[in-house]
Order: sequence, then structure tokens, then C-alpha cells
Amino acid sequence: MLHYLNYKELDKCYHVFRSKMVDIWYWVFDTGYSNRLETGEYSLSNIQYPFTHSQSVRLQSVHVNHASSSKHPGSYPQKGIVMAHVMQHTLNGSTLKPGDVQLEVENVKLRFGGVTALAGVSLEVKQSEIIAIIGPNGAGKTSLLNCISGLYRPQEGRITFHNYGKAYDLTRMPPHRIAKAGVARSFQNIELFKHMTVLENLLAGCHVHMKTDIFSAALYWGRAQREEIAFRKFVEEIIDLLEIESIRKKTVGTLAYGLQKRVELGRALAMKPAILLLDEPMAGMNTEEKEDMARFILDVNEEHGVTIVLIEHDMGVVMDISDHVVVLDFGQKIGDGTPDEVRQNPRVIEAYLGEESGTFALF
Ligand SMILES: Nc1ncnc2c1ncn2[C@@H]1O[C@H](COP(=O)(O)OP(=O)(O)OP(=O)(O)O)[C@@H](O)[C@H]1O
Ligand SMILES: [Mg+2]
Repeated sequence: MLHYLNYKELDKCYHVFRSKMVDIWYWVFDTGYSNRLETGEYSLSNIQYPFTHSQSVRLQSVHVNHASSSKHPGSYPQKGIVMAHVMQHTLNGSTLKPGDVQLEVENVKLRFGGVTALAGVSLEVKQSEIIAIIGPNGAGKTSLLNCISGLYRPQEGRITFHNYGKAYDLTRMPPHRIAKAGVARSFQNIELFKHMTVLENLLAGCHVHMKTDIFSAALYWGRAQREEIAFRKFVEEIIDLLEIESIRKKTVGTLAYGLQKRVELGRALAMKPAILLLDEPMAGMNTEEKEDMARFILDVNEEHGVTIVLIEHDMGVVMDISDHVVVLDFGQKIGDGTPDEVRQNPRVIEAYLGEESGTFALF
């Protein structure tokens, strides 16, 4: 999508863009150059303002090419012309701005018979952050993701997810509606259609958003076809991002473990998530595969602004890529803060190494 604005309009729009998560690339030209803008491709008559909601959702951060203007949107040359290029991201399904509260977990309690998996856990996730959930085996990490994605129903507590101007209570919604609201996940044990190809698995992810069911597809063939074409284009974007072009036609079951994990990430992305829940996406990988996966997760987060909730045992990775770390132990939250804060938290040190230990080698 391409829009051209003059600088006054950009000034006005800057905050509108920001709040609607649009990427803006803009260039400031002097008056001499503005003459050229009046003709051809650069005609200012192309201005479309205000932007409609559908044009402006799903977009991320603001990238500003002009150094002096990023922090001071008012500092354009007085007689200048600003040309703005507005791009719509397709991989992010969130309508929030970075830093907005996206997910609120409040006092969640989950028991299985005599076992308490979650003993009143509360935490907050902000739009576009990478939050790591860590803790020893059996601490309740997977159970927490299962509650968020609707696979487990906590006996107490609330989980509120914000998107599309609504507050969804996830503890009362079935998993498919939670997915549709923008929550996608990958599993600790890979859950792909192993007999299907990579491409088919990715397309299966898209189908969360399919508007056309099999009956209307028969009646409205054109619409179903257009939808299918749009999804295929979208899937190509994911294939590109995850560098899996060469295996797109391969049956998933025949792929090496590390690649299957990558395809699983791809399928979650195909759901166009606002938030991505990843349960040990690097487990069982060698160092190189881990580095690749960390890079893909960072790309998805930094370039597309998708919020990431990551369960991971490798502390090096956790400390490297996360903005925020939550520590669980026996179903309780014992730490919550920046990686540095958590690293120095005595309760966390104790949980990992036992009271006697003087050092915190894991970090
Ligand atoms: N479906 C279930 N039925 C019975 N108990 C369960 C179930 N799911 C989880 N639990 C129990 O809840 C506790 C937390 O398990 P969970 O899988 O959430 O831990 P985790 O932190 O993900 O551990 P790991 O690091 O080993 O994956 C454990 O004691 C586990 O046995
Ligand atoms: Mg687990």
C-alpha cells in the first residue's frame, strides 16, 4: 500500500499511524524537489487520509528514514514535502501498540486431582515483548500455556487477552476461538500433520481465518478461490522468512527434527498471531539449529512485532533474547522482571541450585 502525504498531514498522521501500528518510511524533500512531486507517480493527489481501519491494523513499529525526524516529528523543513510509504504487515494479528497490556493472567489455579500445577499465578504480557517462562521440570510452564490457549481450564482465576478493541476472557473460550482471536502456539512435542507436506501444514494454519466453509465454497466459488490465493501468498511470505523454500514440497514426517520445529513455528505464524506461545522451540536442537531458531524468533518479534511467550530451558538463549522473564517453581511464580533482575533474585537462585549453593552457574 502506498500513500503520499505532505508534511503537515504527516505531522497530524504520525500519532494516528503510531496508535494503529503502521510502518512508515518517509523522506523529506526540499521545495525544489517538490516540483517534481507534482507529476507522475509522485502526485500528491494520491493522498488518502484519514486511513481506514483495515488499512492500518496489524502494523508494527515506526521506521523513520530521516534521522532528525524520528523523535521530533515537528522538525521538517518548513517548505518541504514529505512522501510517506505506508506498508501493511501481514504477519502480525494484533491491533495494539507496542507496550500496551496484551495478556493478563490473574491468580490462575489449576489442579489435577492432588497435584497442583498452578497455584495462583499472575503475570502481565505487553505487546511486542519477548517474555520467557522458565522453571524446573514440572514447574507448571506447559500448563500455563495450555490454560492460555484453552486446552486446560483453570479452576480459578482469569486470563484476559486484548485485541480488536475487545477484552477476551480466555478461560471461557474454546481453543479454536482463542486461536481466531490471535493466540497461536507450538507444542513441546511437535504436533504437525506428519503425512502432509510443509506447504499443506502451513495452509492448514491459515484455515483458522478461512471465512468460507465447504458449503459456501460450493456456492460462492469465486470468493473461496480469492481467499485461497490470498492465503497462498501469505504462506509464501512465511516460507521466505523461515528459509524453508527448499523443503516446501517435502512430507513433514521425513524432515530432520530441527526443521520440523521450524515448520511448526511456520504453522503458528500462518495463524497470523497477535501473540505466539512457544513451548521449548529449541529443545533437542544442536547449537547451530538453536541459533537459527533464535534468529527466526527475533525476526518475527522485531520485524513484525509479534509478542512472544517462550518456554525455554537454555538460559543462554533466555538471557539473550528475552525482555522479560517469569520464573515458576511448583506452580508458583517466584520471579518476574528483566533478565538481570531475575538472575539476581535469591528465590530463583535457590530454586535452581538449592540453598547451599553459592553461585548461579546456570546464568
Ligand atoms: N494432563 C495432566 N494430568 C495430570 N497432571 C498433569 C497434567 N498436565 C500437567 N500435569 C502435572 O502438572 C505439573 C506441571 O506440569 P507441566 O507440564 O506444566 O510442567 P512444565 O513446567 O512444563 O515441565 P517440563 O519442563 O518438564 O515441560 C506436573 O506435576 C505435571 O505432572
Ligand atoms: Mg513443559
